[in-house]
Amino acid sequence: MSEAPLVVVANRLPVDRDPDGGWRQSPGGLVTALEPVMRRTRGAWVGWAGKPGLDIEPFDFEGTHLHPVRLDADEVENYYEGFSNDTIWPLYHDVISAPRYRRVWWDAYVAVNERFAAAAADVAAEGATVWVQDYQLQLVPQLLRDKRPDLTIGYFHHIPFPAYGLFAQLPWRRQVLEGLLGADVIGFQRVQDAGNFARAVRRQLRLDTKASGITVPLPDGGERLALARAFPISIDADSYIEMARRPEIQARAAEIRASLGNPKKILLGVDRLDYTKGIRHRLKAFGELLEDGRVKTEDVTLVQVASPSRERVEAYMQLRDEIEVMVGRINGDHDTMHHTAIRYLHQSFPREEMVALYLASDVMLVTALRDGMNLVAKEYVASRVDNRGVLVLSEFAGAADELGSAIRINPHDIDGLKDAVVRAIEMPGAEQGRRMRALRKRVLEHDVEDWSREFLDTLADVSRARTSA
Ligand code: G6P
Repeated sequence: MSEAPLVVVANRLPVDRDPDGGWRQSPGGLVTALEPVMRRTRGAWVGWAGKPGLDIEPFDFEGTHLHPVRLDADEVENYYEGFSNDTIWPLYHDVISAPRYRRVWWDAYVAVNERFAAAAADVAAEGATVWVQDYQLQLVPQLLRDKRPDLTIGYFHHIPFPAYGLFAQLPWRRQVLEGLLGADVIGFQRVQDAGNFARAVRRQLRLDTKASGITVPLPDGGERLALARAFPISIDADSYIEMARRPEIQARAAEIRASLGNPKKILLGVDRLDYTKGIRHRLKAFGELLEDGRVKTEDVTLVQVASPSRERVEAYMQLRDEIEVMVGRINGDHDTMHHTAIRYLHQSFPREEMVALYLASDVMLVTALRDGMNLVAKEYVASRVDNRGVLVLSEFAGAADELGSAIRINPHDIDGLKDAVVRAIEMPGAEQGRRMRALRKRVLEHDVEDWSREFLDTLADVSRARTSA
């Protein structure tokens, strides 16, 4: 048992297995963000190693104590693929795909959340701060508070929180709200998400909310104040700037352009292969532009990176089939011997290769139908140290609240999307520079370290107010 003053609880551990059986840090932004504070405070991280049935003893990795939580194959199926990714994920993303409500999935979700809470209770020192991450673990805050009332508990929700009319579909809506309210601070990406949550709490639990404060009744008849507000997440902007300045990455960007036959313009989409990302809408718009003759295959190439994700969930298998049929049709109709309309890559790439792609691309297309934040938009902006390139950004992505100088689109409006793509392709350099400078200012001024600091400072304030009350 360790005695950590700061404990992060997330579905996944911050490490992946490397080919020779050791561990290496996972590429995600959250991991990069928390690494310095975890190291400084000798923190602990509770999470799943990503494969079923593994019993791994706790171990130290680069200054952080890692505490693996075991998931059996049926729990991966019911808690992770089922309830997390086939119930909550589609429901919270505005039912773009129909959520499935299955009682066996819920039972597994409760059991696994209890296991995570027990592990966190084990490793947290007296009076420690525990920071729970994301929708896979919504019950952990209250489960943990029941076991360890001495702890200060934060929760951050990385995905959208839906309007009450949709959230109300959830058969276990009450339990989920009560689970989340176990936290002292409940963080969301957008003001809108925090508002939806407060409304659900008022409507479903009949609690009072005032500004971002929620009065939560205690079993002893007393009450405590929980805070629900927006803390938009960001990226490690400096590391993108550093990579974008490396000569070998700039050379790689030129090589990518050359390998595509040096088209006049390159459009780029980078997403997990997920139905929330609007990849079909993007392909439809691009296919129609080719069909209409407004763009030509020799002049414009769309590079679409779609990294494999949740491949055993039916909705994801179906999406992959649909996208691959679309890409095949568009390329079949429009490719020439020397140029391809769409270069489709169902693969993941290292960060360095992504930065080279960002530098090689004239237009970045973020057409999400719903997205908590969309960090790819911020990565593109941070990487454009040359102040060139155009960001086309869906108003349904959290990033739209901050990135006002992007070309804003509604991905459902295919004609509007087509016009936006043409406008982006034709945008003069001076306007690109003006917009990109404004976008970069925001991303550079508010990076992921600011995000975690603001969240943890707010949590510390709430905890101080509680102990002095
Ligand atoms: C989103 C979620 C994360 C999740 C990630 C990858 O960004 O907010 O919690 O880790 O997708 O999905 P996966 O299911 O592979 O963990």
